[in-house]
Amino acid sequence: MKMTPRVVLIGSVAILTTIVLIMIVTPYFTVDRTPSEIFRSRSEIEAAGRELYIANGCVYCHSQSIRTIDWGHGAERIAQAGDYVGDHPILLGSQRTGPDLSQEGGEHPDDWHLAHFMNPRFTRPLSIMPAFDYLGRKNIDLLITYKQSLGFKEADDRMTRQREWKEKLISAYESGPVENVAFLHAQVPEGWRNIPNPYPTSAAGLARGHKIYQDFCIGCHGPVGDGMGPAQPFLYPPPLNFTLLKDRGVTGGILYYQIMNGIAGSAMPYFKKELESEKIWDVGNFVAVYFINQSDANTPPRGIDAAYEPIVP
Ligand code: HEC
Ligand code: HEC
Repeated sequence: MKMTPRVVLIGSVAILTTIVLIMIVTPYFTVDRTPSEIFRSRSEIEAAGRELYIANGCVYCHSQSIRTIDWGHGAERIAQAGDYVGDHPILLGSQRTGPDLSQEGGEHPDDWHLAHFMNPRFTRPLSIMPAFDYLGRKNIDLLITYKQSLGFKEADDRMTRQREWKEKLISAYESGPVENVAFLHAQVPEGWRNIPNPYPTSAAGLARGHKIYQDFCIGCHGPVGDGMGPAQPFLYPPPLNFTLLKDRGVTGGILYYQIMNGIAGSAMPYFKKELESEKIWDVGNFVAVYFINQSDANTPPRGIDAAYEPIVP
């Protein structure tokens, strides 16, 4: 066949039509729109919060989709097509400047989100997320409601757990400082309570602990450990005043357990995903030495005979 302009034109249109049919039309009509097992529809206020999420460009920094290779990006659940059946537009996102938010619901209680939206550096001193205080309290509340719905039914379950613990924590906090500390420690499993800090109180260890404290804790617990960081006005129960732990039988193991797992129902986040073991011991020892004025860190021999440890004669 001769390549006349007419043949070229008809040929190109035919190829383009076939591609559109295969790549767009066929999937549109054959895609499985069965909701996943966690799906539920959104309430009106959750949908209003979603509009704010779109309008404020959150999607430019946050994804809402987790694949197997994305471990470490935030969410625990591998995304299913059926999670998105109610979304128009779908906010998968392509940038991961911040963590993935597909399962953010119930990860933190509402008060943590309030402090974080007012200024992310209140709860995360090194954050580069912009402050959204200009949105006003009403809009921030809508955004929080939307955030807490991410993960649908599983998020609802996590929120139920947050609320149950929040109620218990508030009643412990309102019973007074001694009762509050006793309540917090009663939640730590027996096996952890008597473990002393295995690392020595060395100048280097305390300097590392100081740096970790400034990078992760100072916005809530404050520069002098009295719980009066800039996040304090937004949190209830407020961040713990460490000086209250003096003579209350706190051990390195209790501090480690609380920092590792966080305290459900309170703004105290868990750090097990971002701080390795030694950093948790170091910051715990920093808190013990500088704010509680005690240390149970072992002096040699410490029973750790590992390559990275100084040799104990
Ligand atoms: C410039 C990029 C950027 C933008 C825009 C942004 N964020 Fe973030 N966001 C981050 C970063 C980085 C973090 C991690 C540090 C932190 O927690 O602040 C984060 C953390 C978060 C977290 C906490 C996740 C967790 O569980 O630790 C939430 C919730 C969140 N962002 C929601 C939002 C919402 C809602 C918006 C829009 C109103 C938004 N972000 C806009 C960068 C951004
Ligand atoms: C977003 C605020 C926030 C941040 C950030 C935060 N905490 Fe907390 N922390 C709290 C709150 C709130 C409590 C519990 C208050 C209560 O229920 O009385 C708490 C409790 C604790 C406890 C429990 C003490 C005990 O005796 O049971 C420890 C230990 C602790 N925080 C250490 C840290 C360390 C170390 C960091 C940084 C790595 C940190 N926290 C970061 C808010 C925060």
